[in-house]
Amino acid sequence: MLKDKNILLGVCGSIASYKSAEIVRLFVKAGANVKVVMTKDATSFITPLTLSTLSKNQVYSTYANTETGTWNNHVELALWADFILIAPATANSLAKFANGICDNLLTAVYLSAKCNVYVAPAMDLDMWKHKSTQNNIEKLKSYANIIIAPSNGELASGLHGEGRLAEPQEIFNFIANDLGASQPLKNKKALVTAGPTFEAIDPVRFIGNHSSGKMGYAIAKELQKQGAEVTLISGPTSLTAPDGIKVVNITSASEMLYACQKAFNTTDICVMSAAVADYTPQEVASQKIKKNTDEFSINLKKTTDILFTLGEAKKNQILVGFALETNNEEENAITKLQRKNLDFIVLNSLNDSGAGFKTNTNKITIIDKNLVKTEFILKSKEEVAKDICNKVASLI
Ligand code: CTP
Repeated sequence: MLKDKNILLGVCGSIASYKSAEIVRLFVKAGANVKVVMTKDATSFITPLTLSTLSKNQVYSTYANTETGTWNNHVELALWADFILIAPATANSLAKFANGICDNLLTAVYLSAKCNVYVAPAMDLDMWKHKSTQNNIEKLKSYANIIIAPSNGELASGLHGEGRLAEPQEIFNFIANDLGASQPLKNKKALVTAGPTFEAIDPVRFIGNHSSGKMGYAIAKELQKQGAEVTLISGPTSLTAPDGIKVVNITSASEMLYACQKAFNTTDICVMSAAVADYTPQEVASQKIKKNTDEFSINLKKTTDILFTLGEAKKNQILVGFALETNNEEENAITKLQRKNLDFIVLNSLNDSGAGFKTNTNKITIIDKNLVKTEFILKSKEEVAKDICNKVASLI
């Protein structure tokens, strides 16, 4: 669940700053992308070089790089992050976060953030116990920041008590568990179809379409992110699925039908985003067809409507279909929704620029079986995938 997550680690100046190296290492090992923002004091305790080497990313500590003249955009950094972790968080930085003080890059990033913020404090026991620090902690909680409590143990001052930064592995486990709890599709099996199908005419030619598979792959990835165990039945595309997704490569509509039927009984969620050919040649020539006639025609027969077939076999599965329309969009989509026994249908219209095949963006309308209609703005296919999967999760 940490794979491909964007994590912004804020490091403040504390004797515990050295532990941030191990924190970076643990998250990178789990497949996350880590960027580090350090306060100026933190750089006295651990070098940016150590953290940039481990994170494989530039480390930020000032608003601008005076050598290159480039600006480190705090808003961009904050929006990039799926979550922020401040570890160690000193009494000083805690006080700034709690009171909206913005006097360095890290505090500016903190104030610009819209994502979850985890705060792992580290300080001497009396500083930790002080009413002022405890008030600041309460304030942070009231901003929905998540506190990873310090542990009890030996402190840099030689004293013994509460205030020691939680161990890197504890911090890692805390966040992994917290994210796990927010995986609404955990323990669910999902089946996704993506891409075009190719219907053979002869050994070298086929009937195909322009589907890139991007939408289906983005949905598979998002379902996985939300905790589902995903099988992706993919027509020919140039895309690769992330690790952990089981990919079944198929070429034709009949192969896709077979693969879907095989997996459908044991699936909880099925999203059919493939652009399945509606017709296939009646006969496939066993040898390459020669161009020895002036005219040439192929007899086509209808393929089986896979989604319709699954709709008939449906028990408790959430079944989602797509409708790509050019006219009477909503009316056509509703007819498909009902005829194919779907829980909801994702409508995209070829009349919307930026929607449909080949693009990196899409504009959808979701219509559910109660005919509740939700229109979305033009978004990246990844964001559209999120909207679709959130709708699935709301029905689970
Ligand atoms: N679909 C399918 N099997 C087919 C054709 C389509 O499973 N042989 C699925 C698609 O994956 C999509 C939905 O049906 O989720 C709608 O596809 P679309 O081609 O828009 O609609 P059709 O029902 O084929 O109707 P038409 O082409 O006449 O618009």
